Amino acid sequence: MVIVMGPEATSGDVEAIVALVEAAGVEAFVSKGVRRTIVGLVGDVAQLDGASLRGMTGVRDVMRISAPYKLVSRENHPERSTVHVGGVPIGPGTVTLIAGPCAVETHQQTLDAARMAQAAGARLLRGGAFKPRTSPYAFQGLGEAGLRILADVREETGLPIVTEVVDAQDVELVAKYADMLQVGTRNMQNFALLQAVGAAGRPVMLKRGMSSTIEEWLMAAEYVAQRGNLDIVLCERGIRTFEKATRNTLDVAAVPVAQRLSHLPVIVDPSHSGGRRDLVLPLTRAALAVGADGVIIDVHPQPEQALCDGPQALVEDDLGELAQVMTDLPPLLGKSAA
Ligand code: E4P
Ligand code: PEP
Repeated sequence: MVIVMGPEATSGDVEAIVALVEAAGVEAFVSKGVRRTIVGLVGDVAQLDGASLRGMTGVRDVMRISAPYKLVSRENHPERSTVHVGGVPIGPGTVTLIAGPCAVETHQQTLDAARMAQAAGARLLRGGAFKPRTSPYAFQGLGEAGLRILADVREETGLPIVTEVVDAQDVELVAKYADMLQVGTRNMQNFALLQAVGAAGRPVMLKRGMSSTIEEWLMAAEYVAQRGNLDIVLCERGIRTFEKATRNTLDVAAVPVAQRLSHLPVIVDPSHSGGRRDLVLPLTRAALAVGADGVIIDVHPQPEQALCDGPQALVEDDLGELAQVMTDLPPLLGKSAA
């Protein structure tokens, strides 16, 4: 069951609801959005009287819902949400470009990549300081030194930062520097991490597990929401299939499906999906055409020297075309570039 509070509801109204349902042995999870507060109820809700709850001060609606994910479900929140990251919107009506290096390597490389991203129209800078690598011998990221570089480059360019956190113990540290916390494909079902980022007070980008269903993805988002954070952006980044020509298979259908099932914004990572530079722009066009609310793209000033994922990074010569796509496509889809 979900209780939707009206915009006029006070914290006292919310506390009264929580006290009432908890007295009945039902757990209440309060999620405060920009426009409204939702109280998700978990437990034996059958004993609660929906009509009496609906009559309580500040309550806009009470719904018994069928989707197993309650807080992120569109059933109880028909209007699609916009998440703001350092003032930059990600949501319906806009297309947001996030770009930057896969990994932070040096200050100069990150600054150069950030300038490339800006030239292509990016409003947010991506870059990993903690890298989740298949091999323990591969570059694992610069850690806090990388976060400091990102913060310096934010100062120099004005671009807010999106960066990955791979361990629940590092959430506080990463949140000190980041404008948005990224949870990667490999950690989509790391429940301790999801709960920690949910409590960190920063917007979260949740990438789809490479072998996860859409329902599992939304259940993972529910873990973040349950900790009181509804500022979640879903990111489709390709899934494992039998096809070997691409690194992963971009599941374009996942974008409109997730948008119908959930009110959360959905973006696409065409870099990690295809894993090939020559596919990034075609996949970006596909992502925007199916309604993605944004894209996150790897760029690198010298990809042949990159310490991670060089083959999928766009180079200087690609930026004009990326900028063109970001300018031309949104208006055709009734949107504007963020
Ligand atoms: C990138 O951002 C990831 O860390 C990278 O794609 C992991 O790939 P790997 O299999 O090369 O470690
Ligand atoms: C990344 O974006 O840096 C990354 C590691 O991506 P993914 O989790 O999708 O592999």
